[in-house]
Amino acid sequence: MTTDNVTRPNADVVDILTTDHREMTDLLAQAAQTSDPEQRRDLVETAIAEVMRHAVAEEMYVYPVMEKDLPGGKEEVEHDKQEHDEIVQVMKKLENADAADPEFMGLVQELDKQLRHHADDEESDQFPKLRAHLSGEQLVEMGDKVQKAKQLAPTRPHPSAPHSELFHKSVGPGVGMIDRLRDKLTGRQTD
Ligand SMILES: [Fe+2]
Ligand SMILES: [Fe+2]
Repeated sequence: MTTDNVTRPNADVVDILTTDHREMTDLLAQAAQTSDPEQRRDLVETAIAEVMRHAVAEEMYVYPVMEKDLPGGKEEVEHDKQEHDEIVQVMKKLENADAADPEFMGLVQELDKQLRHHADDEESDQFPKLRAHLSGEQLVEMGDKVQKAKQLAPTRPHPSAPHSELFHKSVGPGVGMIDRLRDKLTGRQTD
Protein backbone atom coordinates (compact mmCIF):
# COMPACT_ATOMS: atom_id res chain seq x y z
CA MET A 1 0.00 0.00 0.00
CA THR A 2 1.25 3.44 -0.84
CA THR A 3 1.35 6.26 1.66
CA ASP A 4 1.76 8.94 -0.97
CA ASN A 5 -1.45 10.72 -0.33
CA VAL A 6 -2.04 12.20 3.04
CA THR A 7 -5.08 10.89 4.85
CA ARG A 8 -7.13 13.67 6.31
CA PRO A 9 -8.78 12.58 9.55
CA ASN A 10 -12.37 13.68 10.08
CA ALA A 11 -12.70 14.85 6.50
CA ASP A 12 -16.21 15.05 5.14
CA VAL A 13 -16.76 12.85 2.08
CA VAL A 14 -18.11 15.78 0.06
CA ASP A 15 -14.97 17.86 0.71
CA ILE A 16 -12.74 14.93 -0.29
CA LEU A 17 -14.58 14.21 -3.53
CA THR A 18 -14.81 17.88 -4.47
CA THR A 19 -11.04 18.32 -3.97
CA ASP A 20 -10.50 15.23 -6.16
CA HIS A 21 -12.52 16.84 -8.95
CA ARG A 22 -10.29 19.92 -8.88
CA GLU A 23 -7.12 17.82 -8.90
CA MET A 24 -8.20 15.84 -11.96
CA THR A 25 -8.88 18.88 -14.11
CA ASP A 26 -5.73 20.62 -12.81
CA LEU A 27 -3.66 17.67 -14.07
CA LEU A 28 -5.31 17.87 -17.49
CA ALA A 29 -4.66 21.62 -17.59
CA GLN A 30 -0.98 20.95 -16.86
CA ALA A 31 -0.94 18.35 -19.65
CA ALA A 32 -2.29 20.97 -22.05
CA GLN A 33 0.43 23.42 -21.06
CA THR A 34 3.52 21.26 -21.57
CA SER A 35 5.15 20.86 -24.98
CA ASP A 36 6.99 17.69 -23.94
CA PRO A 37 5.01 14.61 -25.06
CA GLU A 38 6.59 12.41 -22.41
CA GLN A 39 5.57 14.78 -19.62
CA ARG A 40 2.15 15.13 -21.22
CA ARG A 41 1.64 11.36 -21.19
CA ASP A 42 2.84 11.17 -17.61
CA LEU A 43 0.40 13.86 -16.45
CA VAL A 44 -2.49 12.27 -18.35
CA GLU A 45 -1.73 8.83 -16.90
CA THR A 46 -1.67 10.38 -13.45
CA ALA A 47 -5.03 12.03 -14.14
CA ILE A 48 -6.44 8.70 -15.38
CA ALA A 49 -5.25 6.94 -12.23
CA GLU A 50 -6.84 9.70 -10.12
CA VAL A 51 -10.13 9.41 -11.98
CA MET A 52 -10.17 5.62 -11.56
CA ARG A 53 -9.41 5.74 -7.84
CA HIS A 54 -12.08 8.39 -7.39
CA ALA A 55 -14.74 6.69 -9.52
CA VAL A 56 -14.23 3.27 -7.95
CA ALA A 57 -14.34 4.76 -4.42
CA GLU A 58 -17.57 6.56 -5.31
CA GLU A 59 -19.13 3.43 -6.76
CA MET A 60 -18.10 1.34 -3.75
CA TYR A 61 -18.98 3.67 -0.88
CA VAL A 62 -20.92 6.72 -2.00
CA TYR A 63 -23.34 5.68 -4.72
CA PRO A 64 -24.84 2.80 -2.68
CA VAL A 65 -25.73 5.31 0.06
CA MET A 66 -27.18 7.72 -2.50
CA GLU A 67 -29.30 4.89 -3.92
CA LYS A 68 -30.58 3.96 -0.50
CA ASP A 69 -31.01 7.30 1.27
CA LEU A 70 -31.63 10.01 -1.33
CA PRO A 71 -34.98 10.71 -2.97
CA GLY A 72 -34.61 9.71 -6.63
CA GLY A 73 -31.19 8.33 -5.73
CA LYS A 74 -31.52 5.19 -7.83
CA GLU A 75 -32.01 7.14 -11.06
CA GLU A 76 -29.22 9.59 -10.21
CA VAL A 77 -26.77 6.76 -9.55
CA GLU A 78 -27.71 5.08 -12.80
CA HIS A 79 -27.02 8.33 -14.65
CA ASP A 80 -23.72 8.89 -12.80
CA LYS A 81 -22.49 5.36 -13.47
CA GLN A 82 -23.28 5.73 -17.15
CA GLU A 83 -21.18 8.90 -17.20
CA HIS A 84 -18.35 7.06 -15.44
CA ASP A 85 -18.49 4.47 -18.25
CA GLU A 86 -18.34 7.17 -20.91
CA ILE A 87 -15.34 8.72 -19.14
CA VAL A 88 -13.63 5.30 -19.05
CA GLN A 89 -14.15 4.90 -22.81
CA VAL A 90 -12.33 8.18 -23.54
CA MET A 91 -9.55 7.27 -21.11
CA LYS A 92 -9.10 3.95 -22.92
CA LYS A 93 -8.69 5.83 -26.20
CA LEU A 94 -6.08 8.03 -24.52
CA GLU A 95 -4.30 4.96 -23.22
CA ASN A 96 -3.72 3.85 -26.81
CA ALA A 97 -3.03 7.28 -28.33
CA ASP A 98 0.39 8.80 -29.05
CA ALA A 99 1.02 11.80 -26.80
CA ALA A 100 2.94 13.49 -29.64
CA ASP A 101 -0.08 13.20 -31.97
CA PRO A 102 -2.49 16.21 -32.12
CA GLU A 103 -5.36 13.73 -31.67
CA PHE A 104 -4.11 13.16 -28.13
CA MET A 105 -4.91 16.71 -26.98
CA GLY A 106 -8.32 16.44 -28.65
CA LEU A 107 -9.04 13.45 -26.43
CA VAL A 108 -7.69 15.29 -23.38
CA GLN A 109 -10.11 18.13 -24.11
CA GLU A 110 -12.97 15.67 -24.48
CA LEU A 111 -12.08 14.05 -21.15
CA ASP A 112 -11.81 17.46 -19.49
CA LYS A 113 -15.27 18.41 -20.75
CA GLN A 114 -16.82 15.14 -19.54
CA LEU A 115 -15.16 15.39 -16.12
CA ARG A 116 -16.31 18.97 -15.62
CA HIS A 117 -19.86 18.10 -16.58
CA HIS A 118 -19.92 15.07 -14.29
CA ALA A 119 -18.31 16.93 -11.38
CA ASP A 120 -20.78 19.77 -11.82
CA ASP A 121 -23.71 17.30 -11.65
CA GLU A 122 -22.38 15.81 -8.44
CA GLU A 123 -21.41 19.09 -6.80
CA SER A 124 -24.57 21.01 -7.62
CA ASP A 125 -27.04 18.19 -7.15
CA GLN A 126 -26.02 14.93 -5.44
CA PHE A 127 -23.50 16.26 -2.91
CA PRO A 128 -25.82 18.90 -1.41
CA LYS A 129 -28.47 16.19 -1.11
CA LEU A 130 -26.00 13.94 0.68
CA ARG A 131 -25.23 16.73 3.14
CA ALA A 132 -28.93 17.35 3.67
CA HIS A 133 -29.87 13.70 4.29
CA LEU A 134 -26.87 12.37 6.21
CA SER A 135 -25.45 13.30 9.59
CA GLY A 136 -22.01 14.90 9.91
CA GLU A 137 -20.83 11.68 11.49
CA GLN A 138 -22.02 9.60 8.53
CA LEU A 139 -20.32 11.97 6.08
CA VAL A 140 -17.00 11.64 7.93
CA GLU A 141 -17.38 7.85 8.12
CA MET A 142 -17.89 7.73 4.35
CA GLY A 143 -14.92 10.05 3.95
CA ASP A 144 -12.71 7.54 5.80
CA LYS A 145 -13.88 4.67 3.61
CA VAL A 146 -13.29 6.65 0.43
CA GLN A 147 -9.78 7.68 1.53
CA LYS A 148 -8.90 4.08 2.41
CA ALA A 149 -10.23 2.76 -0.91
CA LYS A 150 -8.22 5.36 -2.81
CA GLN A 151 -5.01 4.37 -1.05
CA LEU A 152 -5.18 0.87 -2.52
CA ALA A 153 -3.98 2.31 -5.81
CA PRO A 154 -0.79 4.25 -6.38
CA THR A 155 -0.77 7.98 -6.74
CA ARG A 156 1.83 10.66 -7.28
CA PRO A 157 3.67 12.42 -4.44
CA HIS A 158 3.41 15.80 -6.21
CA PRO A 159 1.46 16.86 -9.27
CA SER A 160 4.69 17.76 -11.10
CA ALA A 161 6.71 14.68 -10.13
CA PRO A 162 7.20 11.93 -12.70
CA HIS A 163 4.82 9.28 -11.72
CA SER A 164 4.69 6.66 -14.47
CA GLU A 165 7.42 4.48 -13.04
CA LEU A 166 5.78 4.04 -9.66
CA PHE A 167 2.42 3.66 -11.30
CA HIS A 168 3.58 1.01 -13.75
CA LYS A 169 5.38 -0.92 -11.04
CA SER A 170 2.16 -1.20 -9.06
CA VAL A 171 -0.42 -1.59 -11.79
CA GLY A 172 1.49 -2.88 -14.82
CA PRO A 173 2.50 -1.22 -18.07
CA GLY A 174 0.76 -0.62 -21.36
CA VAL A 175 -2.65 -1.45 -22.72
CA GLY A 176 -5.26 -2.51 -20.20
CA MET A 177 -4.06 -0.17 -17.47
CA ILE A 178 -7.56 1.08 -16.73
CA ASP A 179 -9.02 -2.42 -16.44
CA ARG A 180 -6.17 -3.57 -14.24
CA LEU A 181 -6.52 -0.50 -12.05
CA ARG A 182 -10.24 -1.08 -11.67
CA ASP A 183 -9.62 -4.74 -10.79
CA LYS A 184 -6.93 -3.80 -8.30
CA LEU A 185 -9.21 -1.32 -6.58
CA THR A 186 -12.25 -3.54 -6.44
CA GLY A 187 -10.19 -6.53 -5.35
CA ARG A 188 -10.86 -8.61 -8.43
CA GLN A 189 -8.14 -10.61 -10.11
CA THR A 190 -7.14 -10.54 -13.76
CA ASP A 191 -4.23 -12.29 -15.42
FE1 LIG B 1 -18.76 10.33 -10.13
FE1 LIG C 1 -16.96 12.48 -8.44
